[in-house]
Amino acid sequence: MDHARLLHELTEFLRIPSISTLPTHNADCRRAAEWVANDLRRLGCRDIQFLGSESHPVVWAAGPEVPGAPTLLLYGHYDVQPPDPLNEWTTPPFEPTVRDGRLYARGAADDKGQVFCLLRAIEAGGPPPVNYRFLIEGEEEFGSKTLFEVLRREPERTQADVALVADMAYLAPGWPAVYTTLRGMCYVEITVRTAKSDLHSGEFGGAAPNAHEELVRLLGRLKTPDGKIHVPGLYATVQPPTKAERAAWKRLPFRERDFLKRRVQAKALTGLKHRPVLERLWALPTFEIHGIMGGFTGVGAKTVIPAEATAKVSLRLVPNQKMRTVERQLRAAVKQLTPKYATATVRFLHGADPARIRIDHPALALLDRAFRDVVGRGTVPARAGGSIPVVPALGMNGTPVILTGIGLPDDRLHAPDEKLDLQQLWDGIEVFKRFAELLGESKDG
Ligand code: BES
Ligand code: MN
Ligand code: MN
Repeated sequence: MDHARLLHELTEFLRIPSISTLPTHNADCRRAAEWVANDLRRLGCRDIQFLGSESHPVVWAAGPEVPGAPTLLLYGHYDVQPPDPLNEWTTPPFEPTVRDGRLYARGAADDKGQVFCLLRAIEAGGPPPVNYRFLIEGEEEFGSKTLFEVLRREPERTQADVALVADMAYLAPGWPAVYTTLRGMCYVEITVRTAKSDLHSGEFGGAAPNAHEELVRLLGRLKTPDGKIHVPGLYATVQPPTKAERAAWKRLPFRERDFLKRRVQAKALTGLKHRPVLERLWALPTFEIHGIMGGFTGVGAKTVIPAEATAKVSLRLVPNQKMRTVERQLRAAVKQLTPKYATATVRFLHGADPARIRIDHPALALLDRAFRDVVGRGTVPARAGGSIPVVPALGMNGTPVILTGIGLPDDRLHAPDEKLDLQQLWDGIEVFKRFAELLGESKDG
């Protein structure tokens, strides 16, 4: 394939700032959906539909019909996370730039680059060996509300012999992976109010309650420096990894020291000290503060006692935990930790149940084979720390789901200088092309 042409096409897709969590970008999300639909049309798809939303439609399509061949459902998302802090990007997030064989842009790896990889694998494959179906959504980064509604009304959209989700990464360079779990998520805003309005900190300081102070105290109690989350009941259903899993994880190309020095680039790791890092990343819930708002944060100094403060907080959940249960547990914990003279409200923003995915379906052996043929190593089973809300629903009517991807661990998803290694893209096109061929040759998918 003509790499220059492909790069040009992917660049067009990446230029669209389809940030689903910012309403000011609704029109851009729509444009990204149209880009996908146009591309599907070029690939000969019929029955291309926008489902469920004016601004963030789910793009549905069916490929040319191949009688007797298995059906392969491809899932991906065209939306991206906000690009800030903008000044930390070497080149602007929506002006895709190649440096050293890497394409830098918001969405390069998560997930536009991978959606593009699937689309070009189909193009490269000539007459399709399988019946392709597509669900390419635009709200993955915001909880997949529209796609959930679509699937509730029309569960038959997921009917396929296999569903392939390419929104993940290799475990390490040269080590393609398939994933057996995804973490879930419960994302909320916690607002503390302590008075009717802001107060002069000289007139009232020393005697009046301060909303920021109460909020940070509350947050500081919800997770303590030893890494423990103090939400009663949270750990009750958490299952430790099995002995076999623990042993297998030790053989993976993952070194805690490298993770600290190269990936995290901090002075030390945090969390439950007596648990291996992979267990902390893959098999334990988390509590993170994403931002704190309120009071005076402008230039200069203002002497004020804030009456209200809000924190954006999320918990990651692991298999066996339920998003709605954790939401209730968190509300109860916040209530219990709030002093009588303040009020705390918890506003739910979005969430996802964790997912557990079986990897004993024959199609996984075909993907293993495809990776082996193209990159010289098959897939290793791993777990994922991230979330893809709709994955449990994709598998609901029995469709086997495969979680894989062509990213690398240092792609800096959601962060400045997100990138995709171009060799990963070229290899990925060959891998997914080969996988479809093998699936087409197999009898039952
Ligand atoms: N592609 C990621 C999920 C991912 C990241 C899986 C890294 C495995 C490793 C996805 O786009 C994502 O970022 N999901 C969000 C979902 C959330 C907003 C509900 C996430 O995990 O934060
Ligand atoms: Mn993604
Ligand atoms: Mn993402």
